[in-house]
Amino acid sequence: MDPAEPKMGLPSKLLERPEPVNGLSNPGGMGMDRSARPGLERGIAQSLPFLREALKHVSDAVLFLDLSGRIRLANEAAAKFFSLPVDGTDGSSYWDHFPDDYFGFSMRESLKFALPHRLLYKTQRLLELEIETSFAFLGPPADHGLVIVARNIAERLRLARIANRGDRMKELGELAAQVAHEIRNPLGGIRGFASLLARDLESQPSLQEMAAAIIEGTKTLEKLVAGILHFSRPVRIQPESKDLCALLKEVAKFVKVDPAFPPSVKMALHIPNRPIVAPVDPDALKSALLNLIFNAVQAMPDGGLLTLSLIQLEGCCQIGVQDTGIGMENEVLQSLFSPFFTTKKRGNGLGLVETDKIVKAHNGSIDVRSQPMKGSTFTITLPLRR
Ligand SMILES: Nc1ncnc2c1ncn2[C@@H]1O[C@H](COP(=O)(O)OP(=O)(O)OP(=O)(O)O)[C@@H](O)[C@H]1O
Ligand SMILES: [Mg+2]
Repeated sequence: MDPAEPKMGLPSKLLERPEPVNGLSNPGGMGMDRSARPGLERGIAQSLPFLREALKHVSDAVLFLDLSGRIRLANEAAAKFFSLPVDGTDGSSYWDHFPDDYFGFSMRESLKFALPHRLLYKTQRLLELEIETSFAFLGPPADHGLVIVARNIAERLRLARIANRGDRMKELGELAAQVAHEIRNPLGGIRGFASLLARDLESQPSLQEMAAAIIEGTKTLEKLVAGILHFSRPVRIQPESKDLCALLKEVAKFVKVDPAFPPSVKMALHIPNRPIVAPVDPDALKSALLNLIFNAVQAMPDGGLLTLSLIQLEGCCQIGVQDTGIGMENEVLQSLFSPFFTTKKRGNGLGLVETDKIVKAHNGSIDVRSQPMKGSTFTITLPLRR
């Protein structure tokens, strides 16, 4: 492949922190006195198959290029992360598979001047990779080269985002509560005066209509203010030991008879035969589940399958609410737990905020997986002990 030719699936570079090696322009010069280490040379050649086998079991991608750019070693994670069809035994070179700047820096320059790099990548398959490169100068020059290690840090970044979201939510909640509180009193006055006006304007219907419009507007605002005050209040729960299998059955029964639950949506309940007891506030947890369930139902306007599931894990349990609905694009997923975020005509964008608060009050967490046009799964993880 022409090094200048862009490769499909090329990761977009987010951040680069090159760390040039001081005074190192000739990597060959870094080699040790090899004549004194003949055993080492043999050792490296012999240890490649062993290394290859060992690195198979490492979840980080490891790639080793010699200074001519030949791929000497690529473990299974490297094959997966970079769609690389070789393991380093076929003699192909880096440029046979990647454009020169695939990793966000020129590989030719890096090999020539022994420049190590540290980068963060987001690939088109939504892998978020932390990539570190360093040089190895052990053994004969043929074995000198560049080690590229890439680890998937999507999970770490996801947890950091959640922590960040929690802080922002707290500040936003306090601010919103203050603003809502300040708005509430004058709003009541406006509504009161507009009602008096409407009463006195009986003889002038067109003016009375305007007063009525003011009253309607204030009602909408009052609802919003009440919503903000409600959702910025911390959730207080009263946990008790409850069998979650029974709780889930109750919720399913309740949902089935709700007029908002359309017959085109089928429901499946996957729960174990034995009880799973956890310290939960049953009313609060039911309300959290109903928010998820009605979101799932609303995501299946043409019908589909709603699956409620419960499993026990080490020290915790997981409740799943899965739908086969419209799913979510990445932008929706990013804003999912932001207050007032909604894509629905009649939505308030508060259901998930409330659910999140309830789950957090139980020291639990919510996880979301979704694929556009395929469906979504919300998983609540709850501890089995407080
Ligand atoms: N199961 C789902 N499938 C697809 N999109 C979903 C799903 N659950 C949530 N969403 C998206 O997340 C947004 C926010 O959901 P949330 O429950 O917080 O608010 P809402 O449903 O819009 O309004 P409400 O406050 O009445 O619940 C929704 O508008 C929708 O775009
Ligand atoms: Mg909702």
